[in-house]
Amino acid sequence: MPREVMLENIRRAQAAIDRNRESTGRGSMRQHYHFMGQTGWINDPNGLIYFRGKYHYFYQYNPYYGFWDYMHWGHAVSDDLLHWEYLPLALAPSESYDDHMRGGCFSGSAIEHDGKLFLVFTAATNRGNDFEQTQCVAWSEDGIHFEKYAGNPVLTAPEGVVPSLFRDPKVWEHDGSFYLVCGAGVLRGADRKSVGQALLYRSQDLLHWDFVNVLSDNRGEWGFMWECPDFFRLGDQYVLTCSPMGAGSNTAVYFVGDFDYDTGKFSCRTSGAIDRGMDYYAPQTFAAPDGRRIAVGWANEWQWMPFWKDWGPTYQEGWCGFFNLPREIRMLPDHTLQFVPIRELEALRTDACRMEPFAVDEQERELTAGDGVSFEMKLKVDLQETDAERLELCLRCGEGRKTTCMFDLKRAELWVDRSESDGWSRDVSRSALFLKGKRELDIHIFSDQSSLEIFTDQYQNNHANNIFAGNAQNQIRIRAHGGRAVIRDYESYGMKECFR
Ligand code: FRU
Repeated sequence: MPREVMLENIRRAQAAIDRNRESTGRGSMRQHYHFMGQTGWINDPNGLIYFRGKYHYFYQYNPYYGFWDYMHWGHAVSDDLLHWEYLPLALAPSESYDDHMRGGCFSGSAIEHDGKLFLVFTAATNRGNDFEQTQCVAWSEDGIHFEKYAGNPVLTAPEGVVPSLFRDPKVWEHDGSFYLVCGAGVLRGADRKSVGQALLYRSQDLLHWDFVNVLSDNRGEWGFMWECPDFFRLGDQYVLTCSPMGAGSNTAVYFVGDFDYDTGKFSCRTSGAIDRGMDYYAPQTFAAPDGRRIAVGWANEWQWMPFWKDWGPTYQEGWCGFFNLPREIRMLPDHTLQFVPIRELEALRTDACRMEPFAVDEQERELTAGDGVSFEMKLKVDLQETDAERLELCLRCGEGRKTTCMFDLKRAELWVDRSESDGWSRDVSRSALFLKGKRELDIHIFSDQSSLEIFTDQYQNNHANNIFAGNAQNQIRIRAHGGRAVIRDYESYGMKECFR
């Protein structure tokens, strides 16, 4: 019987998608090559996995409207991580533990076991005594149709963990056992303040779990709750990532260090930001068949929710949310991480434009890249030949609007200013540039209809920012302040459509 309820709820959601697909698809702010849902709202990437010869994306999904509630799991598959085929929804709220309008099937992960595809997810409900989150399991024989385990939930919040702050299990296998990390807010100290943590569990069958340890401890300097933790090995190191709530602009962070399976303790030596922009949150990683570790993030964040603003311009088009470009995670010898857009993206390049080295000064100069809306651009600033204090790159300019990227070489800072982008977006994202000993500064930009992703400093300093600029905003301008800047290796491309 329970199985029937989920199937019925999936059928109902599927009918809403069929009704709205066409009108939503016509939306003028829809992306060209960033992954989106067909209709409605999406947030976190879930269950990313390469399974039976295809990449699978699952995602937090409200198929009905362009705002967050009643979470389902959407599902799509791809051969190349660029072009996606939408499949029937994988999970819908259906049980007392997950059937709530402000709850549902929250984030989680996927793993192959016994030839089946297992999903481990958070069920969120409210039975009149505040929200409670528990961890649940579902599986599928064919990788398309899922069934929830009758013994759910498989994990409830342990003593000391706030029941509404216990979510987002990420599962993996090691040496014949399964492990999962789960985000938690743990009450600590005399004032019982919540501290964000990642809890480690172990299982032999994915259904019965034992607590192993607090994977990584902290004193609250990383916020009150860790959303969407992920944990994996990279080379001879281990990496923990998460989106801490209540840690200011640190919305997607990484920690690198060593890990001991015997004690279940991770000791962190290096930390950093995956992205410094305003729209990169809740990344999840997975291993590609060739061994690459790839991260995919949600191109938004919760500060953007209506308790701060409204649901945003795309809401009127019946949708909201997309993923940032998949990024390959690489480690440098000093154990800091690079987040490099996957090489598959090169297949989308069209209308190549290359330029001989050129100098810019106070006089504004126009650059060409695709149609000026959907494009890729790469360049290097020759720091030895450059004496300018700042290099200004204005993207999506037109009709008196623009988004300004300022590479301040004197103060060693990058800032991206959205205050004149579109009349709706605001704020400036900032980061420090690491220029010491550098001969050149690399800049790599992806622009899509409603977003800009800017990578610099060897992909260690990245800004994902959404903007909602119209098609008449298609000019790119460059200039230098306080001297001359020399640009080398300029190349740009238009981008082929994946979603239109
Ligand atoms: C992160 C998050 C998760 C939760 C999901 C709900 O963006 O808040 O912690 O599982 O979104 O949609």
